[in-house]
Amino acid sequence: MATVYAVGVGPGDPELLTRKAERILRSVDVILAPVSNPAEASVALATIREFVDESRQEIIVHQFPMTSDRSRLVPAWQEAATMIAAHAEAGRSVVFITIGDPLFYSTFIYLLRILREQWPQLPIEIVPGISSINAAASEAAFPLVEGDEKMVVIPATAGIEQIKTALETYETVVLLKVKPLYSAIMELLRTTGREQRTVFVERVGSSRQIVLTDFNQIVAHSPDYLSLLIIK
Ligand SMILES: C[S@@+](CC[C@H](N)C(=O)[O-])C[C@H]1O[C@@H](n2cnc3c(N)ncnc32)[C@H](O)[C@@H]1O
Repeated sequence: MATVYAVGVGPGDPELLTRKAERILRSVDVILAPVSNPAEASVALATIREFVDESRQEIIVHQFPMTSDRSRLVPAWQEAATMIAAHAEAGRSVVFITIGDPLFYSTFIYLLRILREQWPQLPIEIVPGISSINAAASEAAFPLVEGDEKMVVIPATAGIEQIKTALETYETVVLLKVKPLYSAIMELLRTTGREQRTVFVERVGSSRQIVLTDFNQIVAHSPDYLSLLIIK
């Protein structure tokens, strides 16, 4: 039985992969890359292309729909887990690649649960990756927390009330998945006086990276899915 790996490939810059991630990616038989929209390229796969030898390694791109509808998600997770287990049981090492870190708001968390439950004998190794939050803070040279400060990470989809409470409670608030609530978040940041204490980062680590610190520019921007806000 071969090993199943989950490798965090970082935010999108191939230089932000760990040496361990690179070693595993070069050595495995099968690479499973997630996409949410089959018409779009996998960001994780684009990040590791230079480490892959397609003459020797099989690449599988698997779609996980971008929805909270479990009746669509569970079959996609089950199908991916079954495929991973089949390769490993046939003696082929397989890696699931994920942007950022595999245990931080990643599809791999759901796959891990299914694999542990249905194939408890499978050896699984998880390699951490640099999360988008750390990469964004570095690119903006924006300290996350210091001393006794506390930080919270909220997927903005949790709702504006949760964000409001977080701003009252923590010294640093990081908002992921900001696109759907963007204008409501902007209004909240304005009314709570966070204009000078907010940084916006999109597609960090890629050639399309955008870092904005001017609040007027942040408000005027139309964010895509791969964007976040760090608020002090
Ligand atoms: C499902 S979470 C994945 C988090 C990822 N596992 C990580 O460790 O960074 C997706 C959210 O992470 C943030 N994100 C992921 N990659 C990003 C990037 N390259 N630049 C900016 N934000 C990113 C965005 O807020 C996006 O909506």
